[in-house]
Amino acid sequence: MRNRRAPGRPVTETGARGDVADIALAGGGERRVDWALGEMPVLRRLMERFETRRPLEGIRVSGCLHITTETANLARVLAAGGAEVVLCASNPLSTQDDVAAALVARYEIPVFARRGEDTETYYGHIQAALDHRPQITLDDGADLVSELHKGRTELLGELIGGTEETTTGVIRLRAMAREGALRYPIVAVNDALTKHLFDNRYGTGQSTLDGIIRATNILLAGRTFTVAGYGWCGRGIAMRARGLGAHVVVVEVEPLRALEAAMDGFRVMPLIEAARESDFVVTATGDRHVVDRPHLEVMKDGCVLANSGHFNVEINIPALESLAIEKRAARPGVEEYRLGDGRQLRLLAEGRLVNLAAAEGHPAAVMDMSFANQALVAAHLAAHADALEPAVHPVPEAIDREVAQLKLEAMGIRIDTLTEAQRRYLASWREGT
Ligand SMILES: NC(=O)c1ccc[n+]([C@@H]2O[C@H](COP(=O)([O-])OP(=O)(O)OC[C@H]3O[C@@H](n4cnc5c(N)ncnc54)[C@H](O)[C@@H]3O)[C@@H](O)[C@H]2O)c1
Repeated sequence: MRNRRAPGRPVTETGARGDVADIALAGGGERRVDWALGEMPVLRRLMERFETRRPLEGIRVSGCLHITTETANLARVLAAGGAEVVLCASNPLSTQDDVAAALVARYEIPVFARRGEDTETYYGHIQAALDHRPQITLDDGADLVSELHKGRTELLGELIGGTEETTTGVIRLRAMAREGALRYPIVAVNDALTKHLFDNRYGTGQSTLDGIIRATNILLAGRTFTVAGYGWCGRGIAMRARGLGAHVVVVEVEPLRALEAAMDGFRVMPLIEAARESDFVVTATGDRHVVDRPHLEVMKDGCVLANSGHFNVEINIPALESLAIEKRAARPGVEEYRLGDGRQLRLLAEGRLVNLAAAEGHPAAVMDMSFANQALVAAHLAAHADALEPAVHPVPEAIDREVAQLKLEAMGIRIDTLTEAQRRYLASWREGT
């Protein structure tokens, strides 16, 4: 059996390892993982290619990722390529326990993740993933890389390289690189065009609305819906909220982004003004305390607060706790806070990624591209890591273009090609009118 050397204790009769909530959920998890694979044609192509070429033969890979159906399929592709994969969660609330069970019991991929795990268990699970002695790390938010650099530096010698999935992780890693603290090369998968233009925008857009609706079942049409941050995620959330009939307000700190939002047809104003009239305030900034005490003090009665940025710091939850005189679980994933003046504010998913905590995260069809980048970059690292400095590197352009091409083919879309005369014209500066 694969991964007998993997960390953790056996949790199945066949000796598969990990720490999951309930191994009996594996059957349902396997069916959902297969359903997702049906929406991931690029990964299916890569799985076939990896099975034949084995680009990751014998390489130990530790991934700190959201344990979802799509991640399960990425892990299967890496394993098909010969990698020994171990996974832990990149967020305590995003784990799908049935998927974790399926990964362990059906695909023999050790997983350390239980939905709702406390902070100590969360970091314990990261340590377990590091006990695998990874040669390649896959991160979503840079917790794995950060823990490795803080306390497990004995592992640095074996590391080939790593990948980072999200904006917040890339920002943390660039900060490490600036301080000279980053000790091995990381490829910023988030920065691939076939990642953030689609995953952050269409994936976060759809799944954030999905999470809010599943958690609250509140009609959006005619309501005021404020989005803080008009980056790739914020653009997608604003676009989809408008599609459901909400009056969308955008809050920004960057003039260019604010201008873009205004010309995209959204009202733009400071949050302190928007807070007074908003029925929903959703953050997607990567920043802390975007919704702060002064906003909470004037916020409209009944306002729903949700976050789709990586960490649960965008809404100042300690301030909300201190303003509240009473708190109750109104529905699964919805905490209702009653304030001293009688207003009620509703916080979704404890301020954690609402699309993963209250829904299922991004639809598989969009993760197909993000994870195709992950798989191809892992193979690229295995083949070329010697050439890379310990720094944050872009995804090679050839990989980005290949992922776009494969996705177009899978969608049955054909495009035109330049004629030779056009190629020459575009390469020349001599011709004008
Ligand atoms: N929910 C998900 O599944 C998911 C998916 C992808 C990315 N993310 C996370 O979402 C966050 C945003 O990602 P992105 O790719 O859109 O980043 P981005 O850098 O493209 O956009 C962030 C925007 O927030 C703005 N901003 C920063 N501080 C602000 C403040 N105080 N008030 C108002 N606006 C502010 C910035 O000016 C910027 O325009 C990150 O934490 C990222 O890791 C989440």
